[in-house]
Amino acid sequence: MNHARRQQLRDALRAQAVRHSWADLVAAHRTPLLILDPNAVSAAYRRLSGALPGFHLHYAVKALPHPAALTAIALCGGGFDVATSAEVDQVRALGVPMNRCIHTHPVKKPADIDHAYRSGVRTFVVDNPVEAQKFSGRDPDIEILVRLAFTNPTAKSDLSTKFGAELADAELVVKHVLDSGVTFAGFSFHVGSQGTSVQPYRVALRSTLDLCGHVERALGVRAHTIDIGGGIPVSYRDPMPGVDQIAGAVDEVLGDRRGQFRLLAEPGRFLAADAMILLTSVVGTATRGGKVWHYLDDGLYGSYSNILTEDVHPPILAMRELDDTRGTGLDDWEPVTLAGPTCDSIDVVARDYPMPPLKVGDVVVSPLMGAYTTVTSSRFNGIPATPIVVSNQGGTG
Ligand SMILES: Cc1ncc(COP(=O)(O)O)c(C=O)c1O
Repeated sequence: MNHARRQQLRDALRAQAVRHSWADLVAAHRTPLLILDPNAVSAAYRRLSGALPGFHLHYAVKALPHPAALTAIALCGGGFDVATSAEVDQVRALGVPMNRCIHTHPVKKPADIDHAYRSGVRTFVVDNPVEAQKFSGRDPDIEILVRLAFTNPTAKSDLSTKFGAELADAELVVKHVLDSGVTFAGFSFHVGSQGTSVQPYRVALRSTLDLCGHVERALGVRAHTIDIGGGIPVSYRDPMPGVDQIAGAVDEVLGDRRGQFRLLAEPGRFLAADAMILLTSVVGTATRGGKVWHYLDDGLYGSYSNILTEDVHPPILAMRELDDTRGTGLDDWEPVTLAGPTCDSIDVVARDYPMPPLKVGDVVVSPLMGAYTTVTSSRFNGIPATPIVVSNQGGTG
């Protein structure tokens, strides 16, 4: 993270600290504490739907299934991407029409299909013949998307290694869908999460359009839906491709074929990341091998689980950096190690990371902690989940 990015974050966070009364929240709840702002979810939703006109956005519930985040999406008129029976129930609890959901897990138990169908979900995803056969004999009002695999070496999580049919196998999967008696709707893909290039969107979409033509010629069925999945990246410490660049690439490839399809997307990280801020405190400080270590009350087994599970590195700032009057010099700061609270030696949040001098009790701030943080945390060492407080005052931007 360069100086300019750190300064940009300081400016945004300074305003938020006042708006959300962080000092009062810390006094009331102590640390660690996650502050969730549903307005940030709505703002990201509006931004994305503006960039991808005509697309139906289905929020990937897995990123942050907190009721306040789900409600924000529902109020924006958005849909939901669910992958498990538990996620079906989380959306159903909102009381929204369940035809706003698509079930995107390519591999599931028949009982999960039963549960989703009974709840009102009608769109499902498969990526192989065995999964297609699980729909045999079910109601023809079920619509199936065949998930395709496209590799993305630039992504932090390349989902194509685990899910998706190879292009060469896609026609066979479509045949199995047709044989099972439910409706073939079209194709979906996911270009992987936190990719540094927009090119995988271009390649995946172009290949999908070609495949639609091939399947129509070979099997006489028209694909009427294309789902471009999630994967829209977030700039944590360093800049990533912007949503406008991705939307531009998608638009260019769709060209005049755009009107032929119902277009879907399944964004998770982009809608949720900016919605939560983590406040954590220094509980201990030591010098080891001549280097300064600060021990925080949240770590890799807690809210910073995204570092462990996704190799995603959120920005970290000292609360005192937000205080105008103390100055914000950076170049002369000593790089420190910021460690988490568990007994495990891998529980290190950042190494050689520039921070101003810190002492026990000082508060440290991480923005952009909404997606894949608390959901993938564990209760290792008996440490409870970091509490989430909902505050309705605006996002980091
Ligand atoms: C099927 C599916 N859709 C959507 C998403 C959301 O992806 P992202 O958070 O990168 O937008 C995921 C993430 O794992 C996924 O597996």
